[in-house]
Amino acid sequence: MTELKRVGVVGCGLMGSGIVQVSAAAGIETMVREVDQATLDKGLGRIRKFLEGGVEKGKMTAQDKDKTLAHIKGTTRLEDLADCELIVEAVVENIGAKREVFSTLDKVTKPDAVLASNTSSLSITEIAATTTRPDRVLGLHFFNPVPLMKLVEIIRALPTSDAAFDKAKGYVEQIGKTAVICKDTPGFVVNRLLVPYLLDAVRLLESGIASREDIDNGMKLGCGYPMGPLTLLDFVGLDTTYYIANIMFEEFRQPQFAPPPLLKRMVLAGYMGRKSGRGFYEYGK
Ligand code: 3HC
Repeated sequence: MTELKRVGVVGCGLMGSGIVQVSAAAGIETMVREVDQATLDKGLGRIRKFLEGGVEKGKMTAQDKDKTLAHIKGTTRLEDLADCELIVEAVVENIGAKREVFSTLDKVTKPDAVLASNTSSLSITEIAATTTRPDRVLGLHFFNPVPLMKLVEIIRALPTSDAAFDKAKGYVEQIGKTAVICKDTPGFVVNRLLVPYLLDAVRLLESGIASREDIDNGMKLGCGYPMGPLTLLDFVGLDTTYYIANIMFEEFRQPQFAPPPLLKRMVLAGYMGRKSGRGFYEYGK
């Protein structure tokens, strides 16, 4: 397996910053692009904070932290990703935004660079079709919090070549994650199972069957899940889950994927979960 030396990440939000961190921690020169300097600084600050937390918890040395940070460079220009062998896009879950990023990446990166999307539910085949290299486009779906969750789903679209797939699989191994391989279908493996479960938890709350605490404790203490479903929704983001559910419902037309009215109302009210300070629970700043 040839180890990658330079990786690019587009987006330094919750997921993008985690992808940057795990790539840099594996010794890969990682270039991350954000739309403006303030957003970039916020994302880089999140990485620094997580690494400092790791040092405090005794999970890594201060030297490891500094080494990881030294492998990270930030930019606001997609053109600065020109030298990267693999680029992971982690922008908002919106097909228009993804298409724009991929068509620009197609123009500015090396022809043999592999372009990956961290989408949770959009079609990789549709994203690939916006480029002149659909055989070198695939999905690399990470899980939140990226530095702690061991899984990455690798999504092969119909045109994905073996060479591109092998490069992506090598990268997943290089950063110390385990791969699950999946066809290009909304939600892939994990969200296909997880999202209907989360939506059902909202339906339970909405219909007054149990309190938020009892729903969460039920699954934590009864099934050994690390977080209850409503806490997990706050953690992942209500808006993100709402987008994913809509995309899955659009594709499958099955009621289990339809977002419940309460979820929609909460998103409309700006209750996005932890990131907005309020979701099913309230969070201090
Ligand atoms: N650096 C290094 N290690 C750290 C760290 C840091 N800054 N912060 C925490 N850790 C380590 C801890 O030391 C601990 O390690 P240990 O198990 O060896 O003791 C471990 O990480 C867990 O940390 P904590 O004890 O502080 O926290 P919790 O035990 O409460 O776990 C959690 C937090 C890992 C987030 C856990 O609650 C969990 O697994 N929740 C479920 C998350 C989940 O389901 N994610 C997937 C969401 S779906 C998704 O992302 C897909 C998308 O498309 C929607």
